[in-house]
Amino acid sequence: MRVNGRAYRTIWVAADCQSVEIIDQTLLPHQFAIVTLRTLDRAAHAIKSMQVRGAPLIGAAAAYGICLAIAADASDEALDRAYDILLATRPTAINLRWALDDMRGRLRNLPRNARVAAAYQRAAEICEEDIAINSAIGDHGLKIFRDVAEKKGRASLNVLTHCNAGWLAAVDWGTALAPIYKAHDAGLDVHVWVDETRPRNQGMSLTAWELGQHGVRHTVIADNVGGHLMQHGMVDLVIVGTDRTTASGDVCNKIGTYLKALAAKDNDLPFYVALPSPTIDWRISDGVKDIPIEQRDGEELSHISGRLQDGKIVQVDISPPGSAMANFAFDVTPAHLVTGLITERGVCAASGEGLRSLFPERARTV
Ligand code: MRU
Repeated sequence: MRVNGRAYRTIWVAADCQSVEIIDQTLLPHQFAIVTLRTLDRAAHAIKSMQVRGAPLIGAAAAYGICLAIAADASDEALDRAYDILLATRPTAINLRWALDDMRGRLRNLPRNARVAAAYQRAAEICEEDIAINSAIGDHGLKIFRDVAEKKGRASLNVLTHCNAGWLAAVDWGTALAPIYKAHDAGLDVHVWVDETRPRNQGMSLTAWELGQHGVRHTVIADNVGGHLMQHGMVDLVIVGTDRTTASGDVCNKIGTYLKALAAKDNDLPFYVALPSPTIDWRISDGVKDIPIEQRDGEELSHISGRLQDGKIVQVDISPPGSAMANFAFDVTPAHLVTGLITERGVCAASGEGLRSLFPERARTV
């Protein structure tokens, strides 16, 4: 996607053909800065501190973390150590484990002197696959947008989204925002209600920023406004991403997603989830019981950062002294609240049957 008119991806190999460059998402929307990762530890730090975030991008960054580790030491021990360090960075997005399993599985079978080139090649393929997957999700989602607009008898749509499931959360396009970009580019008049997404404000800082860069009409709302908008006919459909989808169609996404799904159900509105297949965890079927929910530092809740009038970025404490903070980063939306899952292979019901109809090769494993 474009930033100030120039095309970017969220992650790429630097000119030295070894280091990895990323956009530091902790500085957006105030500063667009590129950071160079040269070591495994820096890659792990980038994922943990959320310089890179969003399920597909976490997977791609982990793949490049393996590359950086292997470039320094191509032994089996170094590969296992890198796997463990990267896996420990964030617990919820299954793309992390998926990418690490993929990388380690392939590299283990190669002689040491072939591992570095193979690692970079596979990491690049993971990025290309992610882009192709998300572009296909965009095409399938566009059909849904067109259908909803046609049923309403108008060429405009009000879409509500939560967190950031845009190109910043992937390598390009994004998941939930891919249909929005495709619809906008196809001439459908899409307006997006962007949930602020406390405590880290991915909606305000990232989604609103990237929609603005692409010229998509949008309005930021506080997290609890969505239900009111739905009751007043100001939302036509809700679309979000997912960090982990169970084999039965439960989805786990940024904290607060579940409440949006409940409000959508109560107002008889479509609630779609866009997901690349590496987000499906075929091993589990009960999202509430089986998905580990990341709990982050309470400081993300008690403190808020912003830009002063003189341009200086500061962090301020908004909490009463002594109050405990609980910072659950994700919640689970049960399948029965989801209208449909939009994957790279098409749209299906949020159910085991639905997922297996699109991924029949998985029918044997679940
Ligand atoms: O904590 P984050 O910012 O990594 O959470 C991201 C989300 O919740 C996204 O909606 C999710 O990764 C799916 S979209 C690409």
